[in-house]
Amino acid sequence: MNIFAIGDVVGQEGCEFLRKALPSFKKLKGIDFTIANGENSAAGNGITPFSAEHLFASGVDVITTGNHVYKRREVYDFLDSRFDIVRPANYGKNNPGSGFTVIDRGSVQIGVINLAGISYMDPAANPFETVDCVLPELGGCKVILVDFHAEATAEKKALGYYLDSKVSAVFGTHTHVQTSDAKVLEGGTAYITDLGMTGPEKSVLGIKHEIAITRFKTGMPARFETAKGQCFMCGCIFEIDEKTGRALSVESVCVE
Ligand SMILES: [Fe+2]
Ligand SMILES: [Fe+2]
Repeated sequence: MNIFAIGDVVGQEGCEFLRKALPSFKKLKGIDFTIANGENSAAGNGITPFSAEHLFASGVDVITTGNHVYKRREVYDFLDSRFDIVRPANYGKNNPGSGFTVIDRGSVQIGVINLAGISYMDPAANPFETVDCVLPELGGCKVILVDFHAEATAEKKALGYYLDSKVSAVFGTHTHVQTSDAKVLEGGTAYITDLGMTGPEKSVLGIKHEIAITRFKTGMPARFETAKGQCFMCGCIFEIDEKTGRALSVESVCVE
């Protein structure tokens, strides 16, 4: 089966572009299952029920999140009531939402785990130890996808090797810049350090570059605003043998 994982969808611009680009891309590439990181999908950052519904309506099957998941209070009940949106599993046990889910497609069950990094990130439980506890909870499903929402490339690579042969794919999110290291590891796990983002290309991680320059140059606070202009949709296509859960191939894409 072909699984498409999409990097952080940023703001209204990213959402609108996804709606335009995703349906035809799925058809073109024969995509069976789509997963997207939605932690920045709301206008003004975070995720809301409205922005999440937009991602689902665009053809996303499961939404993962990250450090901005709890920015908007209106999403808390939504996180608790849906089985197709997850938040980092290594956040507090009693926090809204779940850290993993299993989607039953009849002939195949797909497990999705979301984890947050702890290097240069907000404090959270250890992601390596957390994933060890989550894997047995997935009911033995073969196809398992892990979104590791993390800053440090070393932490992401380490988790990729740690999970090699235990899951179908490990992909990084959060840095919004696609890395060129997509590969199937020796044990049959597909890996990429970061999927990249979906949103305005001429931007600093989705934000107007002028604002980012001012913040870096002066150290003064400036309100973030999503950039405008040509957007792209970045992610990875994982071809997975659904009988074994092993990845057969991986292709990183950036669609304009
Ligand atoms: Fe993000
Ligand atoms: Fe993030």
